[in-house]
Amino acid sequence: MNDEPAAFGVYIHWPFCLSKCPYCDFNSHVRHAAIDEARFARAFANEIATTAARAPGRTVSTIFFGGGTPSLMQPATIGAVLDAIARHWRVAPDAEITLEANPTSVEATRFRGYRSAGVNRVSLGVQALDDRALAELGRLHSAREALDAVAVARSAFERYSFDLIYARPQQMPQQWGDELKRALAEAGEHLSLYQLTVEPDTPFATLHATGKLKIPNDDTARALYDITQEVCAAHGLPAYEISNHARPGAECRHNLVYWRMHEYAGIGPGAHGRLNIGRLDIDGSRHATATEKRPEAWLQRVERYGHGLIADEILTQSEMADEFLLMGLRLAEGIDPARYAALMGRPLDEARIAALREHGLVETTAEGRLRVSMPGFPVLDAVVADLAA
Ligand SMILES: C[S@@+](CC[C@H](N)C(=O)[O-])C[C@H]1O[C@@H](n2cnc3c(N)ncnc32)[C@H](O)[C@@H]1O
Ligand code: SF4
Repeated sequence: MNDEPAAFGVYIHWPFCLSKCPYCDFNSHVRHAAIDEARFARAFANEIATTAARAPGRTVSTIFFGGGTPSLMQPATIGAVLDAIARHWRVAPDAEITLEANPTSVEATRFRGYRSAGVNRVSLGVQALDDRALAELGRLHSAREALDAVAVARSAFERYSFDLIYARPQQMPQQWGDELKRALAEAGEHLSLYQLTVEPDTPFATLHATGKLKIPNDDTARALYDITQEVCAAHGLPAYEISNHARPGAECRHNLVYWRMHEYAGIGPGAHGRLNIGRLDIDGSRHATATEKRPEAWLQRVERYGHGLIADEILTQSEMADEFLLMGLRLAEGIDPARYAALMGRPLDEARIAALREHGLVETTAEGRLRVSMPGFPVLDAVVADLAA
């Protein structure tokens, strides 16, 4: 993986879904009336123009349509957003342009339209290859339908990925290993494998609190994680991030922008961004931006002010350094300790590193990078907290 020195990503959030999955706490909303896509397209273009005026002269290396369910957007809306980006920034000829899609047959019929609009990578939310598990997750598609959508994605795009959720209720390691092998037979160069998280204030949280949803205990979750790593590595898709697997060279470049702490614009309702205003090594500052989450309120703000920002904070040196650790240590490549020292104004605590190394939780590569070791990944949060303290 070659680190791009000045990667710049644009994230576009589409905040609508056909129904709300009971485990999901993403900024997604269900609307029964038709969405006025032309109005959203104008607002996206408006917010892109305002953001580009603050962060001019960038070359866009990646664009990511996330959600919600961006595969509910008309290809013409995607095209209009891509045109707006290209009017305000230079887009690299090899830019990675990803769209997140739900794998229903209706959505798959739009894939070729997205390809013509400029999308060159799709990421499908398959979630499980088992119909009972899909029903439990509240999904609107069957395993067959999902695999059919994967086949359409394979024929329409140069690159595709899909997501699965594991550590689901009653899931056992052997069963998951078999499901994962079936998934790998359908996978291209990339897979995202997320351990089920019971998010607060979701229907799953209520079911869990009342004992109606039983998720694997810590030991089983650990065995599920271990089998995930083994099966994927044996298949040539090792983890390059705690939940993401790819053939070397096929990593999602957009997500690497976040994890390597590069710059990205967050456009749309509830989108987050990080913009470097001025030169960070001179007198510039890194801004953490966030927009209004409610779609209609976001629209009104953009129509009135040209942007939907509700937060625009300058990160302090130690906030930047903490974020660098939190993001960078998720990656198998780890971090460059010199970059940490430059951000923080002092190096990482050697005694702490030595203690973590002794417990086998971190290691230093031949090139001097610090990375979390295989046994360290399941306790990543504790490792980061220890180093950041
Ligand atoms: C923005 S979401 C969804 C994209 C798309 N709407 C879909 O559902 O297929 C991206 C991914 O996060 C994962 N995800 C969402 N909520 C999760 C949870 N509570 N635990 C684990 N993974 C989750 C799912 O795998 C999902 O595909
Ligand atoms: S998981 Fe995807 S489809 Fe389900 S509510 Fe969340 S964003 Fe929407």
